[in-house]
Amino acid sequence: MRSGWADTERDGLEPSAQSPYAAKRRKALSAAFPGDRLVIPSGNLKVRSNDTDYPFRASCDYVYLTGDQTENSVLILEPKADGGHEAAIYLLPRSNREDGEFWLSGYGELWVGRRNSLTEAAAILGLATRDSRQAAEQLAEAIVADQGVVTRILRGHDEQLDAVVDLASGRDERAAAELDEELKVFLHGMRLVKDEWEIEQMRRACAATATGFTDVVRELGQAIATSERWIEGTFYRRARVEGNDVGYGSICAAGPHATTLHWVRNDGAVRPGELLLLDAGVETDTLYTADVTRTLPIDGRFSELQKKIYEAVYDAQEAGIAAVRPGARFRDFHEASQRVLAERLVEWGLLEGPAERVIELGLQRRYTLHGTGHMLGLDVHDCADARTEDYVDAQLVPGMILTVEPGLYFQLDDLTVPEEYRGVGVRIEDDILVTADGNENLSAALPRTVAGIEQWMGSLRD
Ligand code: GLY
Ligand code: MN
Repeated sequence: MRSGWADTERDGLEPSAQSPYAAKRRKALSAAFPGDRLVIPSGNLKVRSNDTDYPFRASCDYVYLTGDQTENSVLILEPKADGGHEAAIYLLPRSNREDGEFWLSGYGELWVGRRNSLTEAAAILGLATRDSRQAAEQLAEAIVADQGVVTRILRGHDEQLDAVVDLASGRDERAAAELDEELKVFLHGMRLVKDEWEIEQMRRACAATATGFTDVVRELGQAIATSERWIEGTFYRRARVEGNDVGYGSICAAGPHATTLHWVRNDGAVRPGELLLLDAGVETDTLYTADVTRTLPIDGRFSELQKKIYEAVYDAQEAGIAAVRPGARFRDFHEASQRVLAERLVEWGLLEGPAERVIELGLQRRYTLHGTGHMLGLDVHDCADARTEDYVDAQLVPGMILTVEPGLYFQLDDLTVPEEYRGVGVRIEDDILVTADGNENLSAALPRTVAGIEQWMGSLRD
């Protein structure tokens, strides 16, 4: 069994389209931490139960800096004596039949499929490659060899490497945590502004997501006959066919479930006459995710009350989107949306005006419940660890991509609203790119107006 197998090494491989962008990002990282050793692990498999694992999803910063997505790998930037860093990526090489590794369950290629050889990976990623089974030992040796070099690790993804860095450097725990935190915060700050390759990934994520929503509308009849799970499965199928996965658990909330903000149980009935709040996003094979919400009348037509609430949220979203442009504050679109919703709640007699007072006291929040948006990219809630002054307290700049997603939610047991409002939840969410002179709605392919939605649903279901 050990012999008689052909050599399948692939020659002449080209660097991936992402590799020059990843190289540029590594250069910026290198410039920010001169003289420091930087360790960015991809992460390990996580046990789901007994001997089965969750599907692996590499850490975002590792993907951002390498374009690679394999488990148990690590990128190390080693400082050079004359400045700059030397980057190497540690990967698991191919397993071969001669030493029997090929047949080992867990990582033998008979079980998990062919990997790139280290030479192939070097060509594709445009990076020096090394054997990941030696990463811990080589890292420890390098740290011990020169205790004058600060080592920072992107902590929390690979326990073994975290421990190696701690032990070999003999670092004071608090000082170490600070050094590592600075690395993470810097990377999240960098990721706030997307490069052109990333923007293209986001366009693809939004296009596939629009197709997934269309699939769902086409299959609403089956959902009515079964449950919200049919919707989840329908969208998931599209995510797997056109991308890697869903970027987060799909929220398939029919009827009153829409008032539960992250309803992912998705086990309820889908009833004509009610609304479906579908919040879902396809994650591309390159791991960039869309995050889109549409609230749709399950039978294709909004009732008068549904329409009234929907249009308030639509107007709030329009006001929010109009506030997205370079130089505007990140907080502006939230405030613009909240103002419209507060005014509408006063107009309907649900809150006592004037709207100014309502906003000052935050009274509308009983029904609006959440912030109006967040950065989007490799993570659905992207760049969450960026500095406040670079994100929530900052001004928008071209290349940022964020969601604008106002909502109105009337809980089933809310005695402050008339009975007919109770159990109605509406959210509309789009993915907005900040451009040089304003913004572009990347998810505009999906209709948003009442008339547009009714016409679209009608055309798909006839
Ligand atoms: N799409 C879910 C969220 O933004 O929280
Ligand atoms: Mn969102």
